[in-house]
Amino acid sequence: MTQFPARHTIPPGLVTLADHEQHARTQLDDNAWAYFSGGAADEISLHANRSAWDALPLWPRVLRPLAGGHTRVPLLGRTLAHPILLAPVAFQRLAHPDGELAMAYAAAALGAGVVLSTQASVSLESVAQAVLPDPGRGPLWFQLYLQPDRGFTQALVQRAEAAGYEALVLTVDAPTSGVRDRERRAGFRLPPGVGPVNLAGLQAPTPSALGPSQSALFDGLLHHAPTWDDIAWLQSITRLPVLLKGVLHPADAGQAVSLGAAGLIVSNHGGRTLDTAPSTATALPRVVQAVQGKAPVLVDGGIRRGTDVLKAMALGASAVLVGRPAVWGLANAGAAGVAHVLRLLRDELEVAMALTGCSTLAEATYALLDGHDEPAAGAI
Ligand code: GLV
Repeated sequence: MTQFPARHTIPPGLVTLADHEQHARTQLDDNAWAYFSGGAADEISLHANRSAWDALPLWPRVLRPLAGGHTRVPLLGRTLAHPILLAPVAFQRLAHPDGELAMAYAAAALGAGVVLSTQASVSLESVAQAVLPDPGRGPLWFQLYLQPDRGFTQALVQRAEAAGYEALVLTVDAPTSGVRDRERRAGFRLPPGVGPVNLAGLQAPTPSALGPSQSALFDGLLHHAPTWDDIAWLQSITRLPVLLKGVLHPADAGQAVSLGAAGLIVSNHGGRTLDTAPSTATALPRVVQAVQGKAPVLVDGGIRRGTDVLKAMALGASAVLVGRPAVWGLANAGAAGVAHVLRLLRDELEVAMALTGCSTLAEATYALLDGHDEPAAGAI
């Protein structure tokens, strides 16, 4: 939990997402900090996500007409005010007592979509009630981990449908957790009063007795891990579009689309699962090419600047998600802090568009990144 009484006003002097990060470090205890900021193992993918966006140059175009420009984008049948969504992040009440509710209010106020985690620390129904009445809100999606108990999973999906969620985001990159050294060093544990409330009543599968040569992973936990067959099962039990989150390999992207995935989220789980997995900026254009426009491709991982958002769009993303920056805003000032983070990012996006000569995001093409007039053949 927070070390100090939770704040609700933006501390002075925070003008970037990095400023929010620095300040959040003073608001969160070592336990929460290790959980939210840590990546897997040596944190190579965590850092690669950031440096890959930085390494892409933007080639500005000049003297283009910009008046009347906007950040609106189409996504799954609706028009969003801008392409920034909140990524699913577990246990947000570790950062602020208002947790996911504050996130949801802030997102709705800023027209940002929300992807609520299966491991949210407030009920999925209360988040939906907070968001749905707002006419300016973005999409409301529910992130799903398939639970070993598929009956429980089905009931959870039915709850999400009944509450008004508009899509399911199935996380596919974590059949097991990554090697979370930072969490282990900090002895991470959930404090009393913070937990995955939407999973209440879920029974852990009874572990079978393992022989000395058996693996707790391969002969235990992974018997319940989702496979491609579960995609069809999930689609058969829901009327909601199903997006897959955590796709990096173009071959997986092609398979997902051929199975009718409504969208893909290029993600390495914020560098928290497989360390040394490629940065998302590296994987994104390959996935976009494999998908061939048959489904929207979103991306998360290391987005910290409006220029990063613009680069993602230029690489073919339909929208981006931010996770940790929203948590920093939440830790710093609750809903006001999350809204501030979203506002900063959106304002920076507008400046980046203006300075690259883009009046709309449809004009953000690969040519912005390679300095050619048209995408070079095979450029991606
Ligand atoms: C959960 O998805 C986590 O990354 O901790």
